[in-house]
Amino acid sequence: MLATRDVSKAFGGLKALSTVSVQIAPGAITAIIGPNGAGKTTLMNAISGFVAPDVGDITVNGASIAGRRPHEVCRKGVARTFQNLQMFSEMTVLEAVATGRHLHRRVPIYAELLMLPAAWRAERAALADARELLALIEVGESYWERRAGDLPYGYQRRVEIARALATEPAYLLLDEPAAGLNDEETAALGRTLGQLAARGLGIALIEHDIELVMSVSQQVFVMDTGAVISSGTPDEVRADPAVVRAYLGDAHAA
Ligand SMILES: Nc1ncnc2c1ncn2[C@@H]1O[C@H](COP(=O)(O)OP(=O)(O)OP(=O)(O)O)[C@@H](O)[C@H]1O
Ligand SMILES: [Mg+2]
Repeated sequence: MLATRDVSKAFGGLKALSTVSVQIAPGAITAIIGPNGAGKTTLMNAISGFVAPDVGDITVNGASIAGRRPHEVCRKGVARTFQNLQMFSEMTVLEAVATGRHLHRRVPIYAELLMLPAAWRAERAALADARELLALIEVGESYWERRAGDLPYGYQRRVEIARALATEPAYLLLDEPAAGLNDEETAALGRTLGQLAARGLGIALIEHDIELVMSVSQQVFVMDTGAVISSGTPDEVRADPAVVRAYLGDAHAA
């Protein structure tokens, strides 16, 4: 289980997170929803080590990861995607995905610089794994040698998920993975996430596409102004008056 316990974070006078406790179960999809500015991305940043919580704890199978650096969190089995592929757009699709695998290399850096046989083997293993992941995530072979930044948007999103999976995570955090996707691509993404969860991956899904959330999630946490205001199955949160109020309030404010 990946869990936060009473995590709070303030930016100056703004309480972005107020005693937030969520649980991300293995082998399931847990959605985190809520109006703009609710604190969803900040929560993901806190879990993945990009912002340090002011108070509260974050644990993976009981071991604390609160305040750890992003690469340390990744080594503990928690991967995340980014909104875009910017950092990897100049690489080929295969290279971009293989980059994720390098977190696990056991080859000393000097061996890599000298391109010793062990480094060669590690590189080839990384590329083999990247091919396997791209096939799993349904990015066809014709795309593999293309510049990642040149792919259609829906494919870039898939490459980004494959790159995160290459770190061999137990938990995957996705921040609005369906943003910019058409209906067909969104449905395909939903199927892929279901398959990954069925293989044991614990997925945290931050998403505004309520239809996607309701169709793929087993558990939903609803946030508003930095706090969890409701949680339960999709049907339970849909029927919760507090959730309806939060969304109506948002619509009125907009
Ligand atoms: N680094 C930061 N410095 C200052 N304020 C921040 C920072 N990051 C987030 N915030 C503020 O914290 C609040 C929560 O932001 P956050 O991005 O977590 O919301 P969100 O739920 O992800 O919203 P959205 O649905 O629009 O992505 C917002 O008021 C935001 O302006
Ligand atoms: Mg956000």
